[in-house]
Amino acid sequence: MLAKAVRDANGRVLLAEGVALTSKYLNRLKQLGFDMLFIKDERFEDVDVKHAISDKTKEVAYQAVHGVTKALGNNSKTDIDTDSVRNAVSMIIEDLLCSCDVLNSLTDIHGYDEYTYHHSVNTTVLSLVLGMAKGYNQNKLLEMGMGVLLHDIGKTNVPKQIVNKKGSLSKEDFEEIKKHPSFGFDFVRRYRDFSINSAHVAYQHHEKWIGGGYPRGIKGNAIHEYGRIAAIADVYDALTSKRPYRDALEPNQAYEYVMAQSGFQFDPQIVRLFVKNIAAYPNGLGVLLSNGMRGNVIRQNPGLPNRPVVRVIYNGDRPLSKPIDIDLANHLNLVIVKVENF
Ligand SMILES: [Fe+2]
Repeated sequence: MLAKAVRDANGRVLLAEGVALTSKYLNRLKQLGFDMLFIKDERFEDVDVKHAISDKTKEVAYQAVHGVTKALGNNSKTDIDTDSVRNAVSMIIEDLLCSCDVLNSLTDIHGYDEYTYHHSVNTTVLSLVLGMAKGYNQNKLLEMGMGVLLHDIGKTNVPKQIVNKKGSLSKEDFEEIKKHPSFGFDFVRRYRDFSINSAHVAYQHHEKWIGGGYPRGIKGNAIHEYGRIAAIADVYDALTSKRPYRDALEPNQAYEYVMAQSGFQFDPQIVRLFVKNIAAYPNGLGVLLSNGMRGNVIRQNPGLPNRPVVRVIYNGDRPLSKPIDIDLANHLNLVIVKVENF
């Protein structure tokens, strides 16, 4: 039975909470690109997997990016609703300030549909979490968040057949893609309602700490801090999203990618904040332990991103008569060996 409603790209409910899942529903959801669901399970009744932001906020933010993209696509001289962007980012900030353990549950459930918009919203949420960890005040959070929400807006100016291409990109295609940060910069800075620092997020989110990124190949602190934050958030969300041409990485694999790129692609100082604030194994995730027991993550241990509390419900393939909570912080001989959804 569904524990949380499944929604389409416009926020409309596809399947309501409480609906009994049949194989017909499951197959259809799989086709649409949903590879994760929240289900009711009495063994986990005391566990609440909270979302970082509310459905309402997600929808408002989604509509804001959608609206700006549409206005831009129709005619680049059309005025866009800058207030909708500011309002969406304010709502995200407010939600994040209200939820105390957001970092455990960045999981966003969506299908293949309208990937760019979902990606923009998720990247904004993650960037704001990092900005908050850095101690940014409201003004800085807003300034950065507005830039991140529009970070890929320049893709509107890149030919659609290249942006939506399912296979690998040719060298020429990639040269076109590489123009989107500059397009985005030129667009965002045209509006007085957006700060020039917001425009720099669009401009710099593909630069690398060590150099060699695009469009300018600048490095280190020459990249604005907002750009260095957005770079990590952008890559993490892209890696954990399922696309028609490749599966998503598990959260812990994307997490390890970010750590491995510390000092190379990413600013080590921001990576440290990321590691401290983002769960490698978010709540709800199914895992296999090194002793053959299997269960789901139910709680995080602050400061120990790889050692959450797991509620074990199977020993191998045999269901346990009573679930056992194993706190990996107290069982150093055990490790998570695999993420599995069962
Ligand atoms: Fe981008």
